[in-house]
Amino acid sequence: MAILSVIIAPDPRLKVKSDPVERVDAALRKLMDDMLETMYDAPGVGLSAIQVGVPKRVIVVDGARPDEERAPHRLVNPELLWTSGETVVIDEGCLSFPDLYAEVERPAAITVRYRDEHNEVRELDADGLLARCIQHEMDHLEGVLFIEYLSAVRRNIILRKLSKVRKAKERKSA
Ligand code: NI
Repeated sequence: MAILSVIIAPDPRLKVKSDPVERVDAALRKLMDDMLETMYDAPGVGLSAIQVGVPKRVIVVDGARPDEERAPHRLVNPELLWTSGETVVIDEGCLSFPDLYAEVERPAAITVRYRDEHNEVRELDADGLLARCIQHEMDHLEGVLFIEYLSAVRRNIILRKLSKVRKAKERKSA
């Protein structure tokens, strides 16, 4: 396994709509294993393939609490079959937005259909952190970032701050 480099916002690649996967093969399994290793190393609770520069409909998530055993999920071509009418507001983060957390409102529970790492079609009912992670990562497959749920004013402040941080880093490494 390998730790992959995660794309940091703002970056046009994060706005790309990802393509469906035709078949889950050994190369894709390796990508998902590497994505999980990268996610755990960060540490994070979810990662989409586009965040490591691969525009395929692939996400990995783990909704386990820190005191619980790891519960990795690999989801290929995920589709929401159902979302609860009830919504919840949760503080979200994203590995492409280091140190940024923002409250986002989304459905509390979902049912998702996907292909697993063995190319089998599965359905999963999720609530709590797992439901939240899956919805956040599925947005990445559409090129949608969680800051888009914030007000335009708040979003612009965050984006300006991020590009300042990046420019400072570039100057340092130049
Ligand atoms: Ni994210």
